[in-house]
Formats: sequence, C-alpha cells, structure tokens
Amino acid sequence: MRVFLHSRSLHGISAQIPILLPTGIYYIVAMDFPVDKEARIIDLPKFLDSRGNLSFVESSNQIPFAMKRCYWIYDVPGGELRGSHAFKKQHEMIIALSGSFDVLVHDGKRKQRFSLSRSYYGLYLPPMHWRTLDNFSTNSLALVLSSERYDEEDYLWDFDLFLREAACR
Ligand code: TYD
Repeated sequence: MRVFLHSRSLHGISAQIPILLPTGIYYIVAMDFPVDKEARIIDLPKFLDSRGNLSFVESSNQIPFAMKRCYWIYDVPGGELRGSHAFKKQHEMIIALSGSFDVLVHDGKRKQRFSLSRSYYGLYLPPMHWRTLDNFSTNSLALVLSSERYDEEDYLWDFDLFLREAACR
C-alpha cells in the first residue's frame, strides 16, 4: 500500500482524506497501485488450461483504477471507426476479447498505435488521451472497463480543444 500527499483529488481512488495546509488543500491518498499518466499495455493474468484458458481483472488490482462501468463494442462493419474523442476524468482499459483492432492514442504530445489481438492484454488509458479504435477484424469484440459511470459531460469531441486542454495540464 502506498500513502502520499497529492495536490488534487485523484479520480477513481476512494481512500483520500483532504487536509488544509497554508499552501492549499491537499489529499492524503492511500492506494494499492501506482497512478499512471501514460497509456500502456498491461499483462493480465492467464490460466492456460487444456479445457480452455481464463483471464481476469479485479478493480484496483490488475487495473490501476476502481471500475464503475463496462461496455463492449461489437458487430463493427469493415472500415468503421469508433471513439475519436478523449475523456476529461475517466480512466479506462480496453481489451480485445475476440478478434483484433487497433487503438490510435494521442496524449496531447505524441501519437501511438496499439494493436490488440489477445484477450490477456489490456490497454490502459489515463484521462486526457484522445483515442480512436479502427481496423476491426470480422467478429471482433472490444471490452472497455471504465472508472466512471456514463457521463456525456466527460467527453471532449473537439481535437483542437483537447490539444489546448492537454497542454494546460
Ligand atoms: P460513444 O461513447 O459515442 O461510442 P464510441 O466512442 O465507441 O464511438 O457512445 C455511443 C452511444 O452510446 C452514445 O449515444 C451514448 C451511448 N452510451 C451510453 O448510453 N452508455 C455508455 O456507457 C456508453 C459508452 C455509450
């Protein structure tokens, strides 16, 4: 368990106590996982078995946030894109449960393409990452785990506005 002082409330982390210091409000944060700022592939546990394989995620354990919602994208016609927006607050993990697709990620400074095709890899995306899903194979199934309930106010749809807001962080 890590305990530290942070200058602002951290999303998706429940154990935080506000304290008032002369320099402002700070939060004592206790958590079992590091706060990530970068998109990255997380290796999920896998149990290989002759009867079929099994992988899993637990909130705040294999994924660096507490999960509040999951949704999935399926039956995507060839050549279609999904996403093309960023989230202001929510963290997410994207897993290719079946088939394959790419996630094009922009963090405000650089672009990266992640190709997902294995159900034991999760792409973790912190808030303020512009992401577009494309290159869907036939019968692909994208699972998205999110730190927040659905909130249309959390979406940034304008790429130029996203770049400006990302530059201020
Ligand atoms: P959207 O997030 O725009 O899809 P994508 O980014 O994958 O292209 O969502 C599409 C529609 O689904 C939109 O009308 C809102 C609705 N929706 C919900 O009601 N709840 C949810 O959790 C999500 C993800 C979407």
